Amino acid sequence: MTVDLAQLAVPVVAAPMAGGSSTPQLAAAVNSAGGLGFLAAGYRSAAATAEQIAVLRSLTDRPFGVNLFVPAAPADPAAVSAYRARLLPEAERRGVELPVSVAPDRDDWDAKIAALLADPVPVVSYTFGLPSPAEAAALRAAGSTQIGTVTSAAEALAAVAAGMDALCVQGPEAGGHRATHRADATPGSTPLLGLLTEIRRVTDLPLIAAGGLGDGPAIAAALRAGAVAVQLGTAYLRSDESGASPTHQAALVDGRFTETVVTKVFTGRPARGLRNAFIDRYQPYAPTAYPEVHHLTQPLRAAAAKRADTDAMHLWAGTAHPLTRTGPAADITRALWREARV
Ligand SMILES: Cc1cc2nc3c(=O)[nH]c(=O)nc-3n(C[C@H](O)[C@H](O)[C@H](O)COP(=O)(O)O)c2cc1C
Repeated sequence: MTVDLAQLAVPVVAAPMAGGSSTPQLAAAVNSAGGLGFLAAGYRSAAATAEQIAVLRSLTDRPFGVNLFVPAAPADPAAVSAYRARLLPEAERRGVELPVSVAPDRDDWDAKIAALLADPVPVVSYTFGLPSPAEAAALRAAGSTQIGTVTSAAEALAAVAAGMDALCVQGPEAGGHRATHRADATPGSTPLLGLLTEIRRVTDLPLIAAGGLGDGPAIAAALRAGAVAVQLGTAYLRSDESGASPTHQAALVDGRFTETVVTKVFTGRPARGLRNAFIDRYQPYAPTAYPEVHHLTQPLRAAAAKRADTDAMHLWAGTAHPLTRTGPAADITRALWREARV
């Protein structure tokens, strides 16, 4: 079942996007154009992930990937309480209750690994860290091709040591969470193209380039810099098959949002999104505490999303967000690849 990522008919990977943006339909559409579709298992139970895999299998015969969030040790509860106190007036103003305490959460990791061993998928990728050597060996034996997401040469070396078959190199331009293995590490700022060069120096594994790739020339430049494929997230957020909310989709091309920033205010882990009032207000106070802060702010974000209040929603976006296109994801994939070859 091994998938040679250097041999995709179209070297475009649909980035896994947790939180509802990735759908089986989006993954199948990118597959149908010759790329590699992905499901995002983050925030989902093992059972819900298995359901999505079943739907995707009914839509495509081609290889696809499943992405997992690697769990971290629990954060300092005092830092989470202090941030909760800071957010309370905001919650009261909005008529929202914040959870009093957040239980430890490993994103159903063990059950997902067990499910992927019992019913293997062609490709498994990891973000926020790496599987243990034993888990990686078991998935390899099950026939899955494994991709470790990395944001530095040091993380690339760790991924090689963990037995990954390929690396997704995520540059700072990327939308959504930085994949940095330690939530408390300051994410690197070397732009994607330079990062690809740095990582190429330490490993011969196939590299997939991610971050801020929104048009043909950007894709071509990443491939010239040594990547065998590119991974696009933001570029698919406005596609027909995207599960992103209409409010999020509209904001990506709304001229009122002139900037993206990396922030921990919503989830306690650095993530890039459209700069808005919530970020400006809480940026100095958000602790490194993932996924605790994700759970803490969830009711606030849900209430904001219900009212389409873009001042208080998390609007993940990469730096190329103004370039996002609408239409079927297969057409977007083909058009971007055509433009990359000009
Ligand atoms: C809405 C959104 C959700 C994301 N969720 C995930 C995820 O669940 N797992 C993951 O590995 N990467 C996730 N990412 C990051 C992507 O894998 C990829 O690195 C990023 O989209 C590339 O940058 P771009 O958005 O500029 O194309 C997400 C990105 C976005 C925009």
